[in-house]
Amino acid sequence: RMEVTETFAGIALPGHLHTQESLGFAAAFAFRPTDVLIATYPKSVPCQAGPALTPSSAGTTWMQEILTLLFSLGDARPAKTIPNWERAPWLEQIYCREALRDTETRRLLTTHLPAHVLAPALQRSKAKVIYVARNPKDVAVSFYHFHRLAKFLPDPGSFDAFLTQFLEGTVHYGSWFDHVKGWLGQRHLLDILYVTYEELHQDLCGTAQRLGTFLGCPLAPGTLTALEQHCTFAAMRDNAMANYSLIPPEIMDHSQGRFMRKGVVGDWRDHFSPQQNALFNQRYQEEMGDMELPTQWPM
Ligand code: PPS
Repeated sequence: RMEVTETFAGIALPGHLHTQESLGFAAAFAFRPTDVLIATYPKSVPCQAGPALTPSSAGTTWMQEILTLLFSLGDARPAKTIPNWERAPWLEQIYCREALRDTETRRLLTTHLPAHVLAPALQRSKAKVIYVARNPKDVAVSFYHFHRLAKFLPDPGSFDAFLTQFLEGTVHYGSWFDHVKGWLGQRHLLDILYVTYEELHQDLCGTAQRLGTFLGCPLAPGTLTALEQHCTFAAMRDNAMANYSLIPPEIMDHSQGRFMRKGVVGDWRDHFSPQQNALFNQRYQEEMGDMELPTQWPM
């Protein structure tokens, strides 16, 4: 493992993707009114020359693909020829400053940072934010499998050990609960849209239309058709520009599984014991209580 940790704003992050400089760059970022930022809790990946990714298990990659098709008005060429970390750079990662140089067109950005780090810069701007969330039980499962592939994250040990850390919020990228609560807390302060992974599953076209309305670019029928074709799990699993197969094996051990792993809702049922589920539910209740959520997850 090439695990080095960088700590910022109280959370641990993979050191080979982040430095204090790159994180400071993100926190003080000069957002443009036309910028669109995808924010998610992690589970992710890096690339050889610096470009990387981060973790999430929240639908980051899916949203990057959808917005690529939406911005290109259904032209699949960018999605098929440009790696997703270039199409939608990770704001906090080392390569971002360079990746954004000379970008005149509408910028699509990605972040796993907590709201409190980015809120001041975002509130000073008119940039739009799309927050994607997923049932945290499925996030934990996906994140666990991702730790097994990603050499830049700590060895997760057993699922039980990992789940304990996930619930404590001591995993890289910090607490899922704090992340979601932080970004939900921005609902009246930012131009922000909340989308769930489960919604994308249930109604990709309807959700894409909602995104189009939010972004001020209603979708033409051709865009929707292209989106339906290129943003399915199978199409993205086979798209080298979206599935992270380009990441070298010293960074992602592809023999341990695929980044595009299963892509289903409710995989936690095949991983959680009744005891783990009870503990999770208790912790969820303590953290989230009766908080109003963008969706009701089947817990
Ligand atoms: S990361 O590391 O932050 O970029 O990860 P992220 O993209 O947020 O999450 C990866 C999970 O999303 C699944 N995924 C999809 N599911 C269904 N349909 C599509 N099109 C799709 N694209 C990505 C991916 O398979 C990971 O989930 P799991 O449960 O591990 O399969």
